[in-house]
Amino acid sequence: MPVNRRHFLTGGVVAASSAAAGSLDFESIRADFPRTRNAAYMDNASSHPISVYSSAALHRYVDWVTNEIGEPWWPYWTAARQEAKDLFARLINADPGEVSFARSTIEAESNLLNGIAIQSSGGNVVTNDLHYSAAIYNYRMRQRDGLDVRIVKHRDWQLDLRDLERAVNGKTKLVSLALVSNVNGYLADIKAISDLAHAHGAYVYADIIQCVGAIPIDVKAMGIDMAACSTYKWLMGMKGFGFMYVRKDLQGTFVRPTQHSGGVRFNYSPWVANPEPGVDEIAFHPVTGPSRYEVSYASCPGIICAQESLKFIHRLGVRNIRNHVRTLTDRLQKELPAMGYPSITPKGNESPIVSFAFKDPEAAMRKLRKADVHVAMRFGNKMRISPSVFNNMSDIDRLLGALA
Ligand SMILES: Cc1ncc(COP(=O)(O)O)c(C=O)c1O
Repeated sequence: MPVNRRHFLTGGVVAASSAAAGSLDFESIRADFPRTRNAAYMDNASSHPISVYSSAALHRYVDWVTNEIGEPWWPYWTAARQEAKDLFARLINADPGEVSFARSTIEAESNLLNGIAIQSSGGNVVTNDLHYSAAIYNYRMRQRDGLDVRIVKHRDWQLDLRDLERAVNGKTKLVSLALVSNVNGYLADIKAISDLAHAHGAYVYADIIQCVGAIPIDVKAMGIDMAACSTYKWLMGMKGFGFMYVRKDLQGTFVRPTQHSGGVRFNYSPWVANPEPGVDEIAFHPVTGPSRYEVSYASCPGIICAQESLKFIHRLGVRNIRNHVRTLTDRLQKELPAMGYPSITPKGNESPIVSFAFKDPEAAMRKLRKADVHVAMRFGNKMRISPSVFNNMSDIDRLLGALA
């Protein structure tokens, strides 16, 4: 069925303010995620399913590009793009003028590094081994090319501030970390780390893919200067689309754009009948604001999907989401170690990811697969369990029952 432009733009859910904690019925949210029908899916730290609202929006989009493309659509897209940025900015307490689209978290961090003159200034970067492996690879490659990179090792699956203090010095330009580790969900003590970095004149980049949408993030209060994420995890969106945050005063100064996309105006015949005097033959204005980091079109399906999922997340309220998921991870933290599977996630850790060590990982995964319980087994024997809004205690029962 063809849809009209207005329907496509506005379809489905309307943004609303967050639900009050008591008024939320997380059981009913299961219906918004058909994945719950036949599985206890708790591998959201790998990929989160999209909701029926995002799914419907994507169907409308496909309908539209199939049946209606060719209409004057630019204002429509401009509005959709801006709304996605506004909703994301609100989620992390940034200004929309600090948010650009990104294709992937790892690409965004790499682009940021390309735009920061660290090596030529004799500076160094401090990161750690709980950062994502592809990010560390990026640093190892740059280290090979001469960049001074200090990779701090974790202690008992946490970062010790004293180790970071030993690595950071007056030449440190950047401290880069995953705010929440994909390995064990460890939430870094970001304020202490950003205070340390700032005291040495360095800036902080946080990879927020494993927490944005799942725990409250306030880039200002946390002292985060740059951040990035894709949308396919806790933002319930698509692969190949995400967001990048760069503090306003660092745009074009500390972080220079390294790829360019804009327009030019030909100011000579036969392009124009009367060339404007005093204007370059090929005139252009450098793009300002966060769009200076964007190249050409961002993914339209990515935007459409994120627009709906961000509205959905705002409607639920991140604090409510966090409170719901905490009840599930708390139970896992209590019961799995008692069953002989020690946790490698610190107690009281504020994130939706918990990980446990297994003596026989293959047998454990076989049992879970048989029970249609989905989790991840990483780094040999570390089971990562990452429940979300649509999981409930029955899912936890199913997992514990299968492993008993
Ligand atoms: C902490 C962390 N950073 C980055 C990535 C990869 O992100 P992207 O695919 O957006 O580059 C992942 C994927 O699992 C991750 O867990």
